Amino acid sequence: MQKIGVLTSGGDSPGMNAAIRAVVRAAIYNGLKVVGIKRGYEGLINGDIENMSLSSVADIIHRGGTMLRTARSEEFKTEKGFNKALNVINIFGIDGIVVIGGDGSFKGAEKLSQAGIPTIGLPGTIDNDLAYTEYTIGFDTAVNTVLNAISNIRDTSTSHGRANIIEVMGRHCGDIALYAGLAGGAESIIVPEENFSSDEICKRLIQGRNRGKLHSIIILAEGVVKNSYELAEEIEEKTGIETKLTILGHIQRGGSPTAFDRILASRMAGRAVELMLQNKSSRVIGIKGSEIIDMDISEALTIEKKLNQDMYRLAKVLSI
Ligand code: F6P
Repeated sequence: MQKIGVLTSGGDSPGMNAAIRAVVRAAIYNGLKVVGIKRGYEGLINGDIENMSLSSVADIIHRGGTMLRTARSEEFKTEKGFNKALNVINIFGIDGIVVIGGDGSFKGAEKLSQAGIPTIGLPGTIDNDLAYTEYTIGFDTAVNTVLNAISNIRDTSTSHGRANIIEVMGRHCGDIALYAGLAGGAESIIVPEENFSSDEICKRLIQGRNRGKLHSIIILAEGVVKNSYELAEEIEEKTGIETKLTILGHIQRGGSPTAFDRILASRMAGRAVELMLQNKSSRVIGIKGSEIIDMDISEALTIEKKLNQDMYRLAKVLSI
């Protein structure tokens, strides 16, 4: 192993830059050459690749987004696109690739490793939807971003005596909603993994008002209801409490990563380089407890993500 490539793919997440920095610096420290592949698998297909040095990753540890940029490549999924990528890997003399991204990016990494290219995956997504690891890079920052939004909205919710629905990201995973909802003391948390009834939400709202509560925060994970505005209208009609909706959207994907995400990214990247040096392939890096772990990529992709039921129940108990 002499030269490795690093790429970020799929939706960006805060901490990806810290991961790129750590891959580049750990690899160079250990005598490897490193190239940065731009816009994920798109850059791999088109040869959009540049040499990385110690200084090319200076001043990025605190920045959100990804300095390598990112893309969701449809072409890479085709045979033609994949073969173009293999050709580029060969031309640039890349011996192994560190892929930073979510499950879609890991499927691409799995395919590359099956074609004989050593690949190691780092979980970079705000969704925390990869079951093999307790945390993904970017999740903690996204939860804190939502928490700031809850605090701001709570102020105005109290002033006006309103109910506020805050819609958060997460794709099919309710972790952002659950963690931010628990930390923010939300009255109700609506996640894709659990059935919900608008009547129960209304009951909680009315109970809260009856004991003098002035604000009401409902955290709604994206995709659970077809139309979030209609849910707000329904709650308002049923309870008589003015109900506003805020969709946080991409604000959750940006911003300076928290200390947790920077440390997680750095530790995971350090392990990825270690594995590369040992000529290991087809592994993904995760965290269990406080330990950095690695696992076979195909095995990791088959584990089903489940909602933390203890936390979900606790959030309900604490928000009575
Ligand atoms: O996977 C990260 C994520 O932000 C999801 O939470 C969300 O559903 C999706 O990406 C949004 O994708 P895009 O940025 O392409 O709109």
